Amino acid sequence: MSIRVNFIDPQGHTVEADGEVGENLLRLGQAKGLPLEGTCEGQMACSTCHVIVDPEWFGKLPGASDEEEDMLDFAAGVKRTSRLSCQIELTQELDGLTVTVPAEAHDMQRM
Ligand code: FES
Repeated sequence: MSIRVNFIDPQGHTVEADGEVGENLLRLGQAKGLPLEGTCEGQMACSTCHVIVDPEWFGKLPGASDEEEDMLDFAAGVKRTSRLSCQIELTQELDGLTVTVPAEAHDMQRM
């Protein structure tokens, strides 16, 4: 069974993506052409994979590690429900997950 994720792109358009359990949220978004750079490829050494999780879904995600919290401090346009998409693995419970890709995500000049 596939897991449906709704990505809201920086222009406000919804992009629906179907992933599999165990798939990485960053990879799924990239495969759908969302502007998620993910420069460090999941090593938590950048913050270009930053997404803002819909508040309704935020509580359903496993908590962020200290390293992730630290890295998020450097992300542009951080909100209370921000996460690094490279740290999120799809599970059955996340079917319907909605995340927004912030406009600043790929534009380090505006930090
Ligand atoms: Fe660099 Fe997620 S890809 S922190």
